[in-house]
Amino acid sequence: MSTANGERLEAKDVRVHFDGVKAIDEVDLVVNRGELFGLIGPNGAGKTTLVNVLSGFQQPTSGRIFLSGNDVTKLPPHKRSARGLVRTFQGVRLFHRLTVFENVEVGALGAGAGRQEARSLARDLLERVQLADKADDLATSLAHGQERRLGIARALAMRPRFLLLDEPAAGLNEAESDELLRSLVGFRDEFSLGVLIIEHDMRMIMRLCERIQVLDHGKTIAIGTPAEVRANQAVIEAYLGVGRESDVAQG
Ligand SMILES: Nc1ncnc2c1ncn2[C@@H]1O[C@H](COP(=O)(O)OP(=O)(O)O)[C@@H](O)[C@H]1O
Ligand SMILES: [Mg+2]
Repeated sequence: MSTANGERLEAKDVRVHFDGVKAIDEVDLVVNRGELFGLIGPNGAGKTTLVNVLSGFQQPTSGRIFLSGNDVTKLPPHKRSARGLVRTFQGVRLFHRLTVFENVEVGALGAGAGRQEARSLARDLLERVQLADKADDLATSLAHGQERRLGIARALAMRPRFLLLDEPAAGLNEAESDELLRSLVGFRDEFSLGVLIIEHDMRMIMRLCERIQVLDHGKTIAIGTPAEVRANQAVIEAYLGVGRESDVAQG
């Protein structure tokens, strides 16, 4: 695993309070470049809020976000993506009136690529997510798993160094999830991406990630390897408290 000269995404002592609700409370987080990092926790734990803060869609009540040592807390989302910090949303936000190809091309153009460069990047990325044969189809025509892969291709067209994925496998069947997982490992290897993934499928998170951070009620209750997290008493209690594994962290 390469960490590409120690580049990292960091949250320091972040709080997000909504009218008395401590959605995030005193959370620190580090994602290294080249690392597959899982963010898990029961429904309402604060996972999406934390990704919103990291990507600039939510200002923290207090605390700071650093990208390779630079304070980006005040930067809007598009300036963070220009610096290599790109996120996808829970529920795909594709341009449904554009073709599959155009969806990726737009991502590249939006990140400042020239026309030729955007086109060749789009061709290359669609090849890699096994959608080359769908390039000229409308994005609406895609099946669930294909749609999700297109979302990732479009994010990759922005040439991220860090990619934040909020439940990318939600709604996918097991085969589609596995395929997505394999492609994420491939992209991490090739681009030395730091990948932060929120996912409620424990099987997938445990297989995919090298380190996992667990939130509960806005606080970090554990950070470690999958084996460490699985054996952690606070984690077991947080999940038992809300029911079976299949009931947690849907949101
Ligand atoms: N915009 C908001 N306004 C008020 N409360 C919010 C807002 N966004 C999230 N919350 C609350 O913050 C907590 C964490 O939510 P969220 O980050 O979506 O959790 P998760 O993604 O882990 O399910 C929840 O209690 C949720 O109701
Ligand atoms: Mg969420």
